[in-house]
Amino acid sequence: MPDDPLKVEDKGAARKLTINRPDRLNALNSRIFDRLEEELFAARGESSVRVLVVAGAGEKSFSAGADLDELADKSPVGAKVLLERGQSVLDTLEDLGKPVIAAVDGYALGGGLELALSCSFILGSTRAKLGLPEVGLGLIPGYGGTQRLSRLVGRGAALRMMLSGERIGSEEAASIGLLAAPPLEAEGFDAAVMEQAMAIAEKSPVAQHLILSAVSAQGRIDTGLSYEASLAGLATTTEDGREGIAAFREKRKPRFTGRMA
Ligand code: COA
Repeated sequence: MPDDPLKVEDKGAARKLTINRPDRLNALNSRIFDRLEEELFAARGESSVRVLVVAGAGEKSFSAGADLDELADKSPVGAKVLLERGQSVLDTLEDLGKPVIAAVDGYALGGGLELALSCSFILGSTRAKLGLPEVGLGLIPGYGGTQRLSRLVGRGAALRMMLSGERIGSEEAASIGLLAAPPLEAEGFDAAVMEQAMAIAEKSPVAQHLILSAVSAQGRIDTGLSYEASLAGLATTTEDGREGIAAFREKRKPRFTGRMA
């Protein structure tokens, strides 16, 4: 399909889904979420697909997060609806019942990192830069980051990333368990990830399904997700949130007032 924002390629029993919007650093808009959902439903029903790899097109970015043009000027309810839609697709991803590897080369920021966090685990290249920069925009993570990052790396490391908005490199990400393995060389990264995917595809799909179910049973995050979507929706309409998004779009530093009312 020309202009398809999600490229689909099969290699043996591995299917690679590539977010294909490199001119916007693969920022996630509604169309990408719609396509992702379609492909997840399709992959779930195809027994020949044993493992999925999610990647971003281009060398610069896995995904730079929620599309800030789409999020601008939404009402709190409009933003909440948009965020809940994204959350629902990421829930489908997390609960797919098949192994899904996030292949992070370049930026995985905001919603981009939250997309990666919804996969079974994250592999990163030495070029990977990961973060939840929303706080610098007067916003908060809204695609599950407040819930999934803290569960993966622990409360302190997650809060440091969320409260500072700082991006961390691949070594640090591996050291806190955000990357599931030491960083892979950027040169040949795709091939190395596919090799790991093919090795996973050779193991028992039934056992993998059961492992994924057992690990997911560690405690549902539904209440936390719903609360996060409400707060993230609210954040987009605060003075700080509006200023942060406007400043990003106007390529200037934000001037936050910190006014709550
Ligand atoms: N939403 C919409 N557009 C985005 C975007 C996003 N999240 N991230 C990047 N883009 C766009 C930029 O506006 C720019 O568009 P332009 O060419 O029309 O100006 C294009 O993608 C390239 O990005 P640019 O900022 O010029 O690249 P850079 O190398 O200077 O910086 C980043 C890269 C990732 C540091 C920077 O793009 C960034 O901070 N993006 C936003 C990340 C973020 O805050 N995500 C969380 C959103 S809640």
